Amino acid sequence: MILIVVTVVMMQPRAGAPYGQPDVQLGPALPPDVRAASALEAMTLDEKIQLVHGHVAFPFGGKPIPDGAIGSAGYVQGIARLGIPALQESDAGLGVANPHNARPGDEATPLPSGLAIAATFDAELAQHAGAMIGAEARAKGFNVLLAGGANLARDPRNGRNFEYAGEDPLLAGVIVGATIRGIQSNRIISTIKHYALNAQETDRQVLSANINPGAARESDLLAFQIAIERGRPHAVMCAYNRVNAAFSCENGFLLNEVLKRDWAYPGYVMSDWGAVHSTEKAALSGLDQQSGEEMDAQVYFGSALKEAVEKGDVPLERLNDMVRRILRAMFASGIVDDPPKPGGFIDYRSHAETAQAVAGQGLVLLRNRNGALPLAKGLRRIVMIGSHADKGVLSGGGSSQVIPVGGIAVPNLGPRDFPGPIVYDPSPPLRAIAAEAGGAQVDYIEGDDLSRAVEVARGADAVIVFAHQWMAEMYDAPDLALKDGQDRLIAAVAAANEHTVVVLETGGPVRMPWLSLTAAVIEAWYPGARGGEAIARALFGEVDPSGRLPITFPVDESQLPRSKIRPDGNAGSSSASAVDGQQAVNYFEGADVGYKWFDKTGRSPLFPFGFGLSYTTFDYKNLTVTASEASVSVSLDVKNVGARRGTDIPQFYVRCPDDATFPIRLVGWGRVQLDPGEMRRMTVTIDPRLLARFDTTAGDWAIAPGRYTIHAGANAGNLSILAEFDLAAFRLKP
Ligand code: BGC
Repeated sequence: MILIVVTVVMMQPRAGAPYGQPDVQLGPALPPDVRAASALEAMTLDEKIQLVHGHVAFPFGGKPIPDGAIGSAGYVQGIARLGIPALQESDAGLGVANPHNARPGDEATPLPSGLAIAATFDAELAQHAGAMIGAEARAKGFNVLLAGGANLARDPRNGRNFEYAGEDPLLAGVIVGATIRGIQSNRIISTIKHYALNAQETDRQVLSANINPGAARESDLLAFQIAIERGRPHAVMCAYNRVNAAFSCENGFLLNEVLKRDWAYPGYVMSDWGAVHSTEKAALSGLDQQSGEEMDAQVYFGSALKEAVEKGDVPLERLNDMVRRILRAMFASGIVDDPPKPGGFIDYRSHAETAQAVAGQGLVLLRNRNGALPLAKGLRRIVMIGSHADKGVLSGGGSSQVIPVGGIAVPNLGPRDFPGPIVYDPSPPLRAIAAEAGGAQVDYIEGDDLSRAVEVARGADAVIVFAHQWMAEMYDAPDLALKDGQDRLIAAVAAANEHTVVVLETGGPVRMPWLSLTAAVIEAWYPGARGGEAIARALFGEVDPSGRLPITFPVDESQLPRSKIRPDGNAGSSSASAVDGQQAVNYFEGADVGYKWFDKTGRSPLFPFGFGLSYTTFDYKNLTVTASEASVSVSLDVKNVGARRGTDIPQFYVRCPDDATFPIRLVGWGRVQLDPGEMRRMTVTIDPRLLARFDTTAGDWAIAPGRYTIHAGANAGNLSILAEFDLAAFRLKP
């Protein structure tokens, strides 16, 4: 029926088609698949080839940015004759990035890090944050945002964890999916990346992430699956690394079998920049577009692909499928009918407020001895130490780097070349704390002179030490220690003043050998455009720090599946070992990532997944379960039994007591704000895949019959109540 409509419309040019929108595209009222098929029909072989490969759009290898490119990460030439727009691609998930200074002086609103967003456990807020960065991308003329980092945090030393959403597939899937939904609400294309198992930067260009395929489906792939279902990104970016020996961008299992067959993904797969290694193999394995081709050894999807198609090594139908997918994404997103144009208005003030809301809700209060926080208003002298807290807050480095509105707060820090420089966002905690502190004297010292720091701290009513860990793309941290003598500084200051509060600006977990000496600790991650204000408001109790850890904080590296990132201890850059094609990481822990690993091995972390204190106290009662076939929902009463208004995130986990191989799994959570004495009942419906195992022989999910238990509590390490339920055998589509 649809085909008949197409033919009719194609044969009769529509009257009044807007200029620049040739009739081959058909009208916006028709489904994107129909429009894509029609546009494809009108294309020559050369035009098809043109759409499946793109350029680097920042100055690279001595070459200027390509003609027609706005200038950012990438550019794919359009087909003017048919009204097909160029793809103007910009990073990234934490704001519109410009790390290579392709447009000198360009600025954008930096969101807090991905872990901060995930720590909110708040999909609505994540969507709002995504909508904000998508609006900036559109106003700057970009129609593709290279966002949606959904890699699971398998190793807390991974240099890019700050771009991702933690270690749990449900949480990461929900948060990243919501962010993508927000981005694409601006009628632009978002990616989801880096598909898949790109869980470390060390050796990333050559590394094979080896894992049992069933375990992959229950962990990293499930995070992508959930995020894709919820966010419906029009593009998927395949990763640098190999998965079970085959490069991600020529991995038939990942691209053809899982993504396109099992998940029926209708969008296109674009490569990461420098992640393509072949023409035929990549095309036949499911890659649809080569990105930033100057970074690959060869232009695999240019004349080489044309030749392969002409020789029949790559069927024309496969090339058509590649192009059709890209066109479909263009029509479905809205970039053809409503193209973004540079120079749009950006409401930076309200965008900064969005960033502040995320930062405030994503702060995690890790320790609060005897209610040391919130700080009282009438203090006389507050001392702030370290991490340029007089000027700004830290952000993470690499392709996601946003050059913030207001400029870089502390110039000339860190590496001159990518992934540097180290960027502090201009939101000084000093200014914000001084504003909150009433008439108190607020002193700041940098903290590089230990004895002076101790001297100044002595006798103050409160000491706030800011600690930092700069993480960046291309580098993993060799270990979880704070650098530059910060552990010694914190220990010495805390020993000298019992009112010492530590604020961490880190890319992820760090060791805390000084923990017991401190009065309080707040994990502020990289808190973004208004991080200073968010931290100050939490310290003084204007907001309840309601974040919960989306990643386990180990005591030290010996508790991890691998005590070192590489057996030789040489955690390092992505390209350092690109000569060695044999590098592999064996994920023998399978799907038991993060808290599941700690649970299985009986290890007690420093802070468990889901952990976070509040300025008030909550109580849980009346956990009930309703189960019918694979449909299971759980309900719980949550009551604020403290003296302040506060927000709680009660969590639900499942276990299968009769099956020792079944891991503990987060199956849902609530997020409630309650006044003192207020109680609310919450209900969560469980995604049945979280009750199942992936059966690689049958190729689907199987729920085993038997008894299961639901555990409710404040975090993965504190599950105080339990309810049981029985399930019959049940199978679910992959
Ligand atoms: C990163 C991607 C990024 C791309 C373009 C790569 O180095 O891995 O996340 O989108 O560059 O900047």
